[in-house]
Amino acid sequence: MQAKTLQGLTAFNESAFRPINKIMIVNKLKILEMILKLKGEESLSSLRDGVLYLKHQLINTKSDKIGLLNIDSNGDTIKIAQKYLFDELQQIADAQTLERAKYYVERFEKGIAEIKTSKINDINLNRWKEYTDIYTDSLWICNKRDDSGVHTAGYWGNFIPQIPNQMIKRYTKKGDWVLDAFVGCGTTLIESQRLGRNGIGIELQESVAQKARKFVSSEPNKYGVISEVATGDSSIADYKSLLQKHGQESVQLLIMHPPYFDIIKFSDDPRDLSNASSVDSFLKMMNKIVDNASSVLDRGRYFALVIGDKYSKGEWIPLGFLTMNEIAKRGFSLKSIIVKNFEETTGKRNQKELWRYRALVGGFYIFKHEYIFLFKKNRGIYDKTPI
Ligand SMILES: C[S@@+](CC[C@H](N)C(=O)[O-])C[C@H]1O[C@@H](n2cnc3c(N)ncnc32)[C@H](O)[C@@H]1O
Repeated sequence: MQAKTLQGLTAFNESAFRPINKIMIVNKLKILEMILKLKGEESLSSLRDGVLYLKHQLINTKSDKIGLLNIDSNGDTIKIAQKYLFDELQQIADAQTLERAKYYVERFEKGIAEIKTSKINDINLNRWKEYTDIYTDSLWICNKRDDSGVHTAGYWGNFIPQIPNQMIKRYTKKGDWVLDAFVGCGTTLIESQRLGRNGIGIELQESVAQKARKFVSSEPNKYGVISEVATGDSSIADYKSLLQKHGQESVQLLIMHPPYFDIIKFSDDPRDLSNASSVDSFLKMMNKIVDNASSVLDRGRYFALVIGDKYSKGEWIPLGFLTMNEIAKRGFSLKSIIVKNFEETTGKRNQKELWRYRALVGGFYIFKHEYIFLFKKNRGIYDKTPI
């Protein structure tokens, strides 16, 4: 059968075809039918012919007689990344034994037929290879800020949208609730809205909160989720009432991007963490905010803290690790320490040479990284407080 179907396919130059990461819409039943045929093949060569035929059908839409890409036939369609699809087919074709090839066919079939997700996100583990956009390494080199849509680098001290984007995709499901206790100009809520998650953000300064509201409301809301920016001090904010207004009791992801102590002074307000009188008082203020916000985080869910270190009187102050240590004592286990690069702020960029000279004279290094400390709400090994 396969020999017959292969007739006339010579126009398909496989080596010239480079699958790209575009999304294809395919007819699920048709592709499963073809997979079933592959499963029934009795020799490696006929199975390889079958794979070639399938590839040909996927590429040459015009000669699509079997309706693989005919999405109108029964409406049972699925979206698949083209690269994933062709990589899977290639792996089947490259197998050295019929047994191995069939193992890959079965895995491919699962990827098409079943969705397997965990309790905390929507990642289909049967098609995990498709998620090339999700970072799993602990070192993030992000050279370009995502400036799509309403995202702007205009608010001094905001984080790159890739940070909340990664956290939301990895640690929430569509329809979940995200809380950002230092929402600034709303980067987290713009991302949560884009990804179909509800978001609550707290910001101390009303003028900044207003900016955030403006940005978030100009972002399309195609999933019809709720995004609310409340003005207030995160250490005493009434998260329960804020959530109850929307018929909600808890959140499924907590994000915090506090001031890195006094590196950038955000306001003159004494409740602002950038006005803490010492590192100790910064930590106390942070603890209060963490205790208050984490009371509405579901058990087993994640908390991402984005923070950097600072220099004071020629000494490196490991603000990130000091804060991490405090949080690890407060009902959280540490899941990851991600190191992320950052480029100089505009001010420092203009003085690059001067800073390099200063570093050489002073024997110090110029900050080029910050941290994302990732915690899970459950008691960890560093938590020595009595139960
Ligand atoms: C590093 S910025 C956050 C930027 C944010 N991630 C963004 O992308 O826009 C810290 C923010 O925390 C706010 N802030 C400081 N102390 C606060 C407090 N006690 N409660 C709520 N917000 C506070 C500051 O006004 C500032 O906007």
